Amino acid sequence: MILAVVVCVLAFSKAAVALDNGLMRTPPMGWLAWERFRCDIDCDNDPKNCISENLFRDMADRLAEDGWKELGYVYVNIDDCWSSMDRDNNGRLQPDPKRFPGGIANLARYLHDRGLKLGIYGDLGTHTCGGYPGTTLDKIQTDAQTFADWGVDMLKLDGCYSNASYQEQGYPLMTKALNATGRPIGYSCSWPAYQGGLPPKVNYTLLGEICNLWRNYGDIQDSWDSVLNIIDWFFDNQDVLQPAAGPGRWNDPDMVSQEHFTLMCESDSIIPD
Ligand code: GLA
Repeated sequence: MILAVVVCVLAFSKAAVALDNGLMRTPPMGWLAWERFRCDIDCDNDPKNCISENLFRDMADRLAEDGWKELGYVYVNIDDCWSSMDRDNNGRLQPDPKRFPGGIANLARYLHDRGLKLGIYGDLGTHTCGGYPGTTLDKIQTDAQTFADWGVDMLKLDGCYSNASYQEQGYPLMTKALNATGRPIGYSCSWPAYQGGLPPKVNYTLLGEICNLWRNYGDIQDSWDSVLNIIDWFFDNQDVLQPAAGPGRWNDPDMVSQEHFTLMCESDSIIPD
């Protein structure tokens, strides 16, 4: 009887934290701003390349009109430096008003109208890696709800300006908060990249329950050496990494192309949704 109760309690607590969005049965495919456009916020001098709603509309047009969408590249993902330096009066994140005058909800609508999905970036900590407002523990619910209200489809949650125990609390709390919004939002966790990427520090079983994908390793840079370095690391650690992946839970080598995913996944699971 006691055993039954214990099993029951364990089952319940696990169910309470598991990510419940049914998304990403195959590895998500799309486009993310960081590698190319970084934190370019100088729209006065560099209007074509700065982080702004125009950039994401342009990229949406490219995916929708140039055949990428048909291949499965449906996510258009904002990375760092999109927000204003201050939260609004209700403590909610807000986009930089000059660079995103139409707001994020409008941008999401633009993408949805073209059969695409919008990703956004947050950081579990006091600041994002680029120094913008972070999601502290007390702001997790607010930020999840804000993203849901805007119609966001995916969240990359980075881990700058926090520490190991903060991350251990925060990443599962965001899972719960995303579930609670009722909107299916794909959840990309940078957590393992901040833990060295390997067990025993990284618990891939837990990650598979609370995140749809996770960054295991360092940032990709604009060089072939960087691509090779990432591939080598995944190759060397494939016995640990391959079993961690499956429908709804994926290793993320950071914007390395689909050919690399084929190394990591069963070949029949790379066909896009
Ligand atoms: C970290 C992440 C990158 C990118 C930048 C943004 O370095 O690993 O992928 O999001 O922050 O500042």
